Amino acid sequence: MCGIVGGVGKIDFRNYLINGLKKLDYRGYDSAGVAVLDHKHLFLKKMPGKVEELSACLPASLPGTVGIAHTRWATHGEPNERNAHPHISMKRKFALVHNGVIENFKAIKKDLFKHGYGFLSDTDSEIVVDLLEYNYHGDVLAAIKKTMGELEGSYACAIIHADEPNRLYFMKNASPLLLGKGEGANYLASDAGAMIGLTESFVDLEDGDYGYLEPDGYAIFADGNPVEREIVARSKDFYDDDLHGYPHYMIKEIHEIPSVLRRLLDNYLDDGFVFDKNMLSMIKMASSVHFLACGTSFYACKVGVKYFRSIGKRSGASIASEWAYDPYDIGENPFFIILSQSGETADLIKCQKVINDNNLPNLVVTNSKGSTLERKATFSSLLYAGVEVAVASTKSYLAQIAYLALLVASLKSDGRVEGDIRTLISSIEKILADDSKIKKLAYERKDATDAFYVGRGYDYLAALEGALKMKEVAYVHAEAYPGGELKHGPIALIQKGTLVVGYITDAEKEASSRNNFVELASRGADILVVSDEKYTREGDLLSFPAVPEYLGVGPSVVISQLLAYYLAEAKGLPIDKPRNLAKSVTVE
Ligand code: F6R
Repeated sequence: MCGIVGGVGKIDFRNYLINGLKKLDYRGYDSAGVAVLDHKHLFLKKMPGKVEELSACLPASLPGTVGIAHTRWATHGEPNERNAHPHISMKRKFALVHNGVIENFKAIKKDLFKHGYGFLSDTDSEIVVDLLEYNYHGDVLAAIKKTMGELEGSYACAIIHADEPNRLYFMKNASPLLLGKGEGANYLASDAGAMIGLTESFVDLEDGDYGYLEPDGYAIFADGNPVEREIVARSKDFYDDDLHGYPHYMIKEIHEIPSVLRRLLDNYLDDGFVFDKNMLSMIKMASSVHFLACGTSFYACKVGVKYFRSIGKRSGASIASEWAYDPYDIGENPFFIILSQSGETADLIKCQKVINDNNLPNLVVTNSKGSTLERKATFSSLLYAGVEVAVASTKSYLAQIAYLALLVASLKSDGRVEGDIRTLISSIEKILADDSKIKKLAYERKDATDAFYVGRGYDYLAALEGALKMKEVAYVHAEAYPGGELKHGPIALIQKGTLVVGYITDAEKEASSRNNFVELASRGADILVVSDEKYTREGDLLSFPAVPEYLGVGPSVVISQLLAYYLAEAKGLPIDKPRNLAKSVTVE
């Protein structure tokens, strides 16, 4: 996964590189490093741990003309100093940071070894810097072009050459990389957020692009020829990542949900629905709508499937990492919907390539304008949720659900959705206005080691997302089960005190779900029922103001997010950056 940042020209490198890395550490935080070239002297510092730890070890200023930095999510090689980036070539001509995975690195390593190269790290990235040096015969661009021809896999690289203090080279394939145009300086990074504050003008690079930045200009090449790429503006408002007094991004982002949903209504309703007419007619004509996503976004897709089926459309959802290997036939003329908060999830990029290679239409719904998935989509829609910093996705899930409700309502021209979403907003606002009971219940359960999340229909979908939040943020082993499935095996795990979170938001399934809870309680489970107030009964511990049934997942999931958050807080866990995770999963 990893994030890279670099720049050339009149730059306060210490501030720019460290702040840039902080903005990118959602991409991984196993190790961090910087390299800055000052005339002939290369300053290099890298170490395991978070960016803050690196920053504490740096001098007060990093003078130089060109600099690069990296934050790592370890793929090849454990997170230690040797494996941290930047990597330096054997003869010390090149320094490089890399985001991606080099699939043929073992073969290249073997070849380089024969040519006398030795290696300091266990990473796939180190071979890239040595291969560049091996291919270098006085022209860095030619060395980059040749190296790109030999590499298989994904990479976004920023490269310094020891003899060229006024140039920062780059190359890109299948990992995100943007250029930022500044005044007397130019920048690059994995994400515009790392450059915001210095520029609002960006160039999104295409796969196969390489080139260089100089203080007053830049050049981009593809296949040996110069190419022009569009300059796009991105406002710094989107990247506001101030905590605004909250102790963690996760809780801040949960509290932003009502405003995110309002913004979504403003963007997709204006005297009627605001959706691309061509897209709507393609969806109507399609034999089926098939969703693809990962993690939380996948659970939002499962809600979308129900919405489409409710208007008589065939619909299904697949986990991207599985579908990419087995893109089974899903009918004559399918329409694909890809949900991705980041727009950079590697498994989805792979799926989208299969879809595009088959000339099939796809809609990407993302929070990231200019992201890889968005740029390659037939149609794209934004979630307008603002930057989501906490690794655990919260506000984006709610935005995804509301977006899908609006999209399906627009297909059947049902204007009632606006009122329904406003009811959802006010229900969530009431939950957020006083979450002290949720906090108390979570703190009382801080020693829970296992949890079952149970529901039927939409409530099962809320259970899936609730269990995921509990696992990733509070490190509690949590499983979601449809109520009817418990007796087919998992009930054997229920014993005195096992935590069960159950959901009731639906009249039709209430009686069966309640029977399940009674069965579990009589085996000693600690049952915490979350219910829509229309169905609340004595003993339900958490009740929320009524919403239409198809939106019941909204408040149920917000309550589950808060439960996971407070349980993690009670345990003193690193809520915004849980162990082993990264915000954007850019490797398969
Ligand atoms: C969970 C979480 C992940 C992401 C998943 C997909 O809280 O954040 O499960 O939902 O990695 O990411 P996107 O939506 O960026 O494709």
